[in-house]
Amino acid sequence: MVFKHILVTGACGQVGSELISELSSRYGSERIIASDIKKCTLPEGVRFVSMNVLDRTAMDAVIRENGIDTVFHLAAILSADGEKNPTLAFSVNMQGTFNVLESSRINSVERVMIPSTIGVFGPETPKENVPVLTIIKPRTMYGITKYGAELLGNYYFEKYSLDVRGLRYPGLISYKTPPTAGTTDYAVDVFYHAVTGKPYTCFLRKDTKLPMMYMPDAIGAFLKLSEAPRSRLRYSMDYNISAFTFDPEGLFRVIMKYIPDLRVIYEPDFRQKIADSWPASLDSIDAEKDWEFKPEYDLDHTVRDMISHLRERLQKTGHL
Ligand code: SER
Repeated sequence: MVFKHILVTGACGQVGSELISELSSRYGSERIIASDIKKCTLPEGVRFVSMNVLDRTAMDAVIRENGIDTVFHLAAILSADGEKNPTLAFSVNMQGTFNVLESSRINSVERVMIPSTIGVFGPETPKENVPVLTIIKPRTMYGITKYGAELLGNYYFEKYSLDVRGLRYPGLISYKTPPTAGTTDYAVDVFYHAVTGKPYTCFLRKDTKLPMMYMPDAIGAFLKLSEAPRSRLRYSMDYNISAFTFDPEGLFRVIMKYIPDLRVIYEPDFRQKIADSWPASLDSIDAEKDWEFKPEYDLDHTVRDMISHLRERLQKTGHL
């Protein structure tokens, strides 16, 4: 299938903003409509539509009037923000996803891509090498709603043959959007401190191991899954993917190879409990087999790339 008219929700978020660039260079910016509740800087030629995923009427109109055949649904409230505002997380992550699926079904959208997360797992899930099918009892509103979204996506595929696809992202490391709302965002925030020479206060314990991945691999994987022949997919919404695992101490040690004077203190807060309920590593074997998932960045390469890009950006904007 060739994507002719693509709608991206949550286009200004951590994943959305980077996905938009890749989509527009791959398919042409004129094919893409970026939607979010607030405008952000977009690649030349990409059209912005102000749209709240809770507004079904607006969503139906955008999909219908633009002949949308493919939706990348990225609007979501992440784990830490979700614990601060569970009502908002429930609305955006559950009702927002339902709206996307229902609007896609009614308006004959051909493919819907929705990322899921390690947040769907809970304390009863095994800690290491977690397979796709396992014990899933999330304890955060983020995890509950994202698991609900997985189930909804599977339901729409089975009941209506809507081609819904998704994967469970680990923590994502990226330099384009500032870290805000996630439990894994310490692994982004620390780079801003390291590069600007400020001490970093880490909100997780130094031995908290979590699965992680660099953003170019995360975007590459999502697009690979979106383009894979449906006949090869044994799952719809719930492929596990991950590139590497580390704990804060391990990450900071690698950063200090390049920025030796990084200073860190540990002050775990409410996010520790969230992280403790998630696994340390995932088994990506099904994604490897079904759609050739293969990350390119290891931890050292990720750290070097993060430092050089962040330095360059902060220098350009006069922050360094
Ligand atoms: N990065 C997400 C979070 O920490 C997990 O998928 O909320």
